[in-house]
Amino acid sequence: MNPEDQKELTEDHDDKQVAAEIMARRFIPAGITAVPWEGFNFVGREIRITEATDSYGAVVWSSALVLCYFLETNAKQYNMVDKNVIEIGAGTGLVSIVASLLGARVTATDLPELLGNLQYNLSRNTKMKCKHLPQVKELSWGVALDENFPRSSNNFDYLLAADVVYAHPFLEELLITFDHLCKETTIILWAMKFRLEKENKFVDRFKELFDLEEISNFPSLSIKLYKAMKKNRRSA
Ligand SMILES: C[S@@+](CC[C@H](N)C(=O)[O-])C[C@H]1O[C@@H](n2cnc3c(N)ncnc32)[C@H](O)[C@@H]1O
Repeated sequence: MNPEDQKELTEDHDDKQVAAEIMARRFIPAGITAVPWEGFNFVGREIRITEATDSYGAVVWSSALVLCYFLETNAKQYNMVDKNVIEIGAGTGLVSIVASLLGARVTATDLPELLGNLQYNLSRNTKMKCKHLPQVKELSWGVALDENFPRSSNNFDYLLAADVVYAHPFLEELLITFDHLCKETTIILWAMKFRLEKENKFVDRFKELFDLEEISNFPSLSIKLYKAMKKNRRSA
């Protein structure tokens, strides 16, 4: 076998093995429960997530598991302890919970209709378990950013995002939001599921404003994990 084919075979094996390991972090309760929930094992904790069935943010998407796994397994390099972290499109809250369990000061954000369930999951999984209790805040992409998140007080070390790009009509507003929330030193960790051509176009637009680095690729899940920082920073 030539070295190129061998490399491809090894990458394919690594992808499938790690992807299977990531997906194995999800479990379902053994019996019927009064309130339906899904379980996840991260940071040595059993995390219980209650889902709803009425919107995109109501279930835990596989990109969230990829990002949680990355945060857990790279906790030395990307140390969350006492860091200011914002998650956009937090949905049911798994990523924000894991970042909180790792010691971050988290602000979990989403559309207003998602916030009740998000708050419930965050409280249930972080009370008495975290150094800093996560906050929940409304953030509709592109809406009232100056009022609710004034640039002068945004001081986020990390911006986390899982599966926020898909066929919705707010892609330009999403890009504006990424830009608004980041200062020069903010690190974006973004897990991206590729479904349609639209996603590639968004990545191209994103690259006009941010330096983008692919840090993991799981072809078997159609998910890539990116690290990004604002372009034209004075200090890199
Ligand atoms: C595919 S879900 C991903 C949820 C979660 N990050 C995960 O991976 O499980 C997309 C999320 O983006 C949120 N979202 C969609 N459009 C939005 C908008 N215009 N402003 C803010 N959040 C939005 C949805 O409510 C939902 O929580």
